[in-house]
Amino acid sequence: MRLAFLFFSRTQSHGIGHLKEERFTIISRSDQETILIGQEIGSLLAEGDVIALVGELGSGKTWLTKGIAHGLGISPATVVTSPSFALVNEYQGRVTLFHMDVYRLETLSEVLSAGLEEYLHGGGVVVLEWANRWPDILPEHTITVELLILDDHSRKITLISRSPRAAEILGAIEKKSPK
Ligand SMILES: Nc1ncnc2c1ncn2[C@@H]1O[C@H](COP(=O)(O)OP(=O)(O)O)[C@@H](O)[C@H]1O
Ligand SMILES: [Mg+2]
Repeated sequence: MRLAFLFFSRTQSHGIGHLKEERFTIISRSDQETILIGQEIGSLLAEGDVIALVGELGSGKTWLTKGIAHGLGISPATVVTSPSFALVNEYQGRVTLFHMDVYRLETLSEVLSAGLEEYLHGGGVVVLEWANRWPDILPEHTITVELLILDDHSRKITLISRSPRAAEILGAIEKKSPK
């Protein structure tokens, strides 16, 4: 699948400390396009990968996760919903997807007792909504995805890598994009 309808740009800079940061930006013009972008990301993921979703309410974090689930081989008939109340939803695909929402966690001890660290090292793919609330516990190979509302239908989706593994995934997405 080629995401021919999307606009891409790429920047590189020296981020925090020694880590080189790469950013890759995609404009999504509908929720369906956001699902397709998620699907592309999901199809590239393997056990141990962590996706940190950052963006305000309604920016599309859960829609992107629906796509990631499809890309991980979870049946499109499976309803992927916001895990705000359950805290973590688990889906079985090619690998297990742990979909978490840490919005409601107020203290580090709540985060730890929710088992976040166990999930992060638990041999599945972890997708975290509101991950920016707890940046310190995210592993270095985390792929951060920032979602910005442009208007009712459009979202600016920026993939950020700070590690070789995350850069590999950004590179693979870029290869699928139009030149
Ligand atoms: N391009 C787009 N990408 C994602 N969602 C979009 C887009 N355009 C409109 N929407 C709407 O925005 C809302 C996003 O909701 P959701 O994914 O639950 O947000 P979040 O999890 O970030 O709070 C949905 O109602 C969706 O239909
Ligand atoms: Mg959500």
